[in-house]
Amino acid sequence: MRNLNLDGYRPYGNMAKTCETRKIKEKKIIWPDREKVIADQFVIRAMGRKDVDEVTELWRASYPEVYGSIHEWMLFPEEYEQKMAFKETWDHDAVHKQYATIVCDDLKNRKLVFANLLTKFDVNLHVEASFFAIHPDFRKGNLDLNIWAELHEFYLWLEESGAEYVTVFCETWQNITQYIWFKQMGWKIAGIFPGSYTRWCGGQNEYRACTVHFYKLLNGGERYSTKPEEWQMLPEVKKLWDCLEEINKASDPGALKGTTR
Ligand SMILES: CC(C)(COP(=O)(O)OP(=O)(O)OC[C@H]1O[C@@H](n2cnc3c(N)ncnc32)[C@H](O)[C@@H]1OP(=O)(O)O)[C@@H](O)C(=O)NCCC(=O)NCCS
Repeated sequence: MRNLNLDGYRPYGNMAKTCETRKIKEKKIIWPDREKVIADQFVIRAMGRKDVDEVTELWRASYPEVYGSIHEWMLFPEEYEQKMAFKETWDHDAVHKQYATIVCDDLKNRKLVFANLLTKFDVNLHVEASFFAIHPDFRKGNLDLNIWAELHEFYLWLEESGAEYVTVFCETWQNITQYIWFKQMGWKIAGIFPGSYTRWCGGQNEYRACTVHFYKLLNGGERYSTKPEEWQMLPEVKKLWDCLEEINKASDPGALKGTTR
């Protein structure tokens, strides 16, 4: 953090009347060191250097749509050393690498079942649950593991990172992940973003896809967030907010019992 004296300046408006404020300090997300073994067969853990080829192959098989987009790097093994936190050098990488990937090993079949790529923005204490995919061989419950029963484990990764603000964007070629994040994770809908990301659609062709964005404040983030009473909104925007709040009542914040603080 750089020190700058702004005594001669002032903010546009007198904000933060509906929340607490705090001294600006160094802010850091640190990826937690978690590992969970299920039924002696499945291990949910951070990826290591040895997994790079298998993880990129999993993304190519299950999320090729990112080809040509700002996230296409995840399809290329040579991109990982610089960007990804690896198990082998966790103490350093958990602090300094912007990305972490949670994978699940199927020890019996010696295959990766799914991957979940997380992105951190230290200074904003923000973690984005950027990409989740199950290998095509294991979709539709075709596995001795109920992946969705392990949502609590994903959530602990976010909570233990120290993030105050967590987000996810769900693609619209299915609505399964919208259901999972809204109904089972208890996150709120932030908005619908038509044309937000370019997506591959076969050959060398692309289009702009629509994504649905969800959010949650945790680790005290709510305390420092302004409330609608002090937001200046156009009547149409206020109407949209009221509508969102009404809809978001259907998302149960206690869905992941015992995890919310
Ligand atoms: C999205 C993806 C992870 C979902 O995995 P899947 O195995 O196909 O998911 P399932 O069909 O088993 O659905 C998961 C669960 O949610 C439930 N569900 C999904 N959508 C639902 C809905 N609209 N209403 C009610 N239940 C719903 C299912 O019934 C299932 O629950 P169950 O395990 O209790 O039966 C997988 O298809 C995938 O990797 N797709 C490609 C990449 C991708 O789209 N990633 C997500 C981008 S946002």
